[in-house]
Amino acid sequence: MPEPKVKILGIPGSLREGSFNRALIAAAIELAPDDVELKLYLLHDVPLYNADVERAGDPEPVRSFKQAISDVDGLLIATPQYNRSVSGVLKNAIDWASRPVSSSVLAGKPVAIMGASTGQSATALAQEDLRRILEACRCRIMDGPRLGVGTANEHISEEHGVYHPETREAVEAIVTELAAFIRRSALAEAD
Ligand code: FNR
Repeated sequence: MPEPKVKILGIPGSLREGSFNRALIAAAIELAPDDVELKLYLLHDVPLYNADVERAGDPEPVRSFKQAISDVDGLLIATPQYNRSVSGVLKNAIDWASRPVSSSVLAGKPVAIMGASTGQSATALAQEDLRRILEACRCRIMDGPRLGVGTANEHISEEHGVYHPETREAVEAIVTELAAFIRRSALAEAD
């Protein structure tokens, strides 16, 4: 019997229609190996975190987001860099998903990170911060391969998506290794 597919949620940390980070996730969907089912998850509906609202019960978009994380084996996050860190949109969504701490859907979840920005730093600082945030949420963070796309317009276009051949290879390498990392994590958990 064939092994069940590895389920991955692809989350861009930008709401922009023509987002470079959304294009990275789209490329990962296109280039994912056959044993991977990768779905795009957009954060448009996730409200701003508010502990009073949370106390009254998670709003529907938050419940959907947590359920989507719970339903998959791992996450692939594409982060933009805003003022040397992650976007507020991404941090806000992670904050919701991190709670309640005792039963967070993020705890133990395998995650891979990539990112695209228009500047030269290629999201290095955003990725560093994202790692620290996800460590706080007790995620299992894949160490490598890593991909930070700087001067993103030279690699990605609205018309053609991720068109730069080496960047496409790097995206394929990340999604392929994430699937292997997830399978290894599952085996380690079963031990
Ligand atoms: C940016 N941008 C940016 N780029 C970068 O390389 N380093 C940075 O520190 C920042 N800071 C920053 C702050 C804010 C508030 C905005 C709106 C933008 C530019 C950013 O990389 C660019 O807008 C990307 O296109 C954002 O990613 P998406 O939306 O294309 O996925």
